[in-house]
Amino acid sequence: MSKFLPLWPDQASTSAGQVDALYIYLLLVAGFMTALIFVAVTVLAIKYRRVPGREAQQIEGSLFLELTWSIIPFIVMLTFFVWGAVIYFRERTPPADATEIYVVAKQWMWKIEHMEGQREINELHVPVGQNVKLIMTSQDVIHSFYVPAFRLKQDVLPGRYTTLWFRATVPGHYHLFCAEYCGTQHSGMGGDIVVMTPQDYAQWLAGGPALPLQETGKQLFSTLGCATCHRFDVQGRGPNLQGVYNKPVLLEDGRIVTADENYVRESILNPTAKIVNGFKPVMPTFQGLVSEEQLNALVAYVKSLAQPTQGNAGLPSQSAISPAQTEKTQVQ
Ligand code: CUA
Repeated sequence: MSKFLPLWPDQASTSAGQVDALYIYLLLVAGFMTALIFVAVTVLAIKYRRVPGREAQQIEGSLFLELTWSIIPFIVMLTFFVWGAVIYFRERTPPADATEIYVVAKQWMWKIEHMEGQREINELHVPVGQNVKLIMTSQDVIHSFYVPAFRLKQDVLPGRYTTLWFRATVPGHYHLFCAEYCGTQHSGMGGDIVVMTPQDYAQWLAGGPALPLQETGKQLFSTLGCATCHRFDVQGRGPNLQGVYNKPVLLEDGRIVTADENYVRESILNPTAKIVNGFKPVMPTFQGLVSEEQLNALVAYVKSLAQPTQGNAGLPSQSAISPAQTEKTQVQ
């Protein structure tokens, strides 16, 4: 905001202006109501002060007055709600074209991994003017990813992914805070969001050798032995994972779930939690065998399999819902 009176942090994302506008509106309404009450108290106290010889007139209530002072504030409150809900849903819905970046929080640092393979600690480089989606998890306790200049905050939880998206609008450095008390060095668990021009960002990404995240995942998929059951050529003991990501999956118990990041993650750590219809619960857990970074790489790999390959283009994928699914049960 103003350089002379810095009441607000920098505005550096598309959310910032929207959040500030709502906040200013709240302040104006609250200020107006406060002024109204103080003026009314003062004026009425003077006007109806005790005068010797004047009798008080009692009023038995007024339906019109009571409806008026109930309905008008109700409508005003609803504008807070509607406006807030619009901003909330916009902030919670990442655009499809967003660049994905993985974040792993731990006591007491932020570990970042880009899809291109670059890793950083307590620093996050992002391009200006592009949608960025953070896929975040914690390897120990609850943390919270908070960037005041973006007006965004999201808890980061162990055992699952939470997401956050933003579009930075001004190149520069912005402070990242942990906003959930997470132990003795919680207050030092900060970082630096570096918003760069697209050219600088491309240059930064190109600097230093790095294996793309999904390639790391592909190697893990092979070394951990996943590929022996999750085959792409013939039906293996586990579902074919091609084209699974973000598709509905029919489970043994009849439920239909979406194969999102949390589903893939759970299927690796707790494979029996959701058994795909037509398959046996034979997969061992990888809990404790893979780090959060390796999990992210595996998830990124499974996501990269989303496009159907040449051979079965147009056909429904093996583990998405299909009538053929039930016939395969016999093969087990
Ligand atoms: Cu991490 Cu507080």
